[in-house]
Amino acid sequence: MDEDCVVFAGTANPALAAGVARELGLPLGACEVERFPDGELTVRLLEPVRRRAVFVIQPTAPPVNEHLVELLAFADACRRAAAERITAVVPYFGYARADKRTGRREPITASLVADLFQAAGIDQVITVDLHTPQLEGFFHVPVDSLSAVPLLCAALRDSLAPGTVVVAPDAGRVRMATEYAQRLRASLVVLHKRRTSATATEVTHLVGDVRDRPCLLVDDMITTGGTLASSVAALRGAGAAADVRAAATHGLLLPGARERLIQAGLQEVWVTDTVRVPEIDWPALHVVSIASLLAEALRR
Ligand code: R5P
Repeated sequence: MDEDCVVFAGTANPALAAGVARELGLPLGACEVERFPDGELTVRLLEPVRRRAVFVIQPTAPPVNEHLVELLAFADACRRAAAERITAVVPYFGYARADKRTGRREPITASLVADLFQAAGIDQVITVDLHTPQLEGFFHVPVDSLSAVPLLCAALRDSLAPGTVVVAPDAGRVRMATEYAQRLRASLVVLHKRRTSATATEVTHLVGDVRDRPCLLVDDMITTGGTLASSVAALRGAGAAADVRAAATHGLLLPGARERLIQAGLQEVWVTDTVRVPEIDWPALHVVSIASLLAEALRR
């Protein structure tokens, strides 16, 4: 990285952006984000970006709309100030689950957000563990989709009990769970879930053998914790050992999630810092930084 590059941190996860800058041996670009009493915001770049490659680090984590508009404002400011190339580093891509219509007269908001990125002048996107790989198809600019699974596996490997099986909580996570299972040399179990409300899911099928086995549930994100809680209950119901842990890339952990997961009896929860993790004082929670992964992608 040289002086032709500048890395800006949005307000969604400044600690991660600082970690990336440290890895790169670069100072973060000087900028200000100001929020007005009416809810609007503005961005000021306090250094020139003309003919420079700009990276803006901003997961579109909750409050999603707030952080999304801020990212778009950053891009617009860079474009108007004649940046050479604008890369949005969006470790967590909000609205990823809105990737299809579940009924008539509904939007596909993930596609809309991809269009907004391009309208704002973003030339490239770097992201981590997209909810579904086909989301890339919504973009007409290059998308670098990184995986946090190798980092999570390396971090949690030594804490797993012998004979642990990797569990996908639903069909959508089979591909990711297969990668965990291969890296950890574990066997794979698949659950099938049905969502009964925004916070509750019900497991209807379990494929594989969990009797007396420790389990590692893996997912792309933990938001309300409902999916993991019902998965733990299903595993216990099928005779799994008491040792059930979980790993997920995006630890959104909305209010109530931590209590739900504690009540479910999860021994450990492993997440990364793609989003700012709010429950840092919870001893069962382990946070693995992806700063080095992002820094390497930026360097490339
Ligand atoms: C669903 O398709 C996702 O992969 C996650 O399983 C889900 O979004 C997690 O959300 P929650 O923690 O609210 O169940």
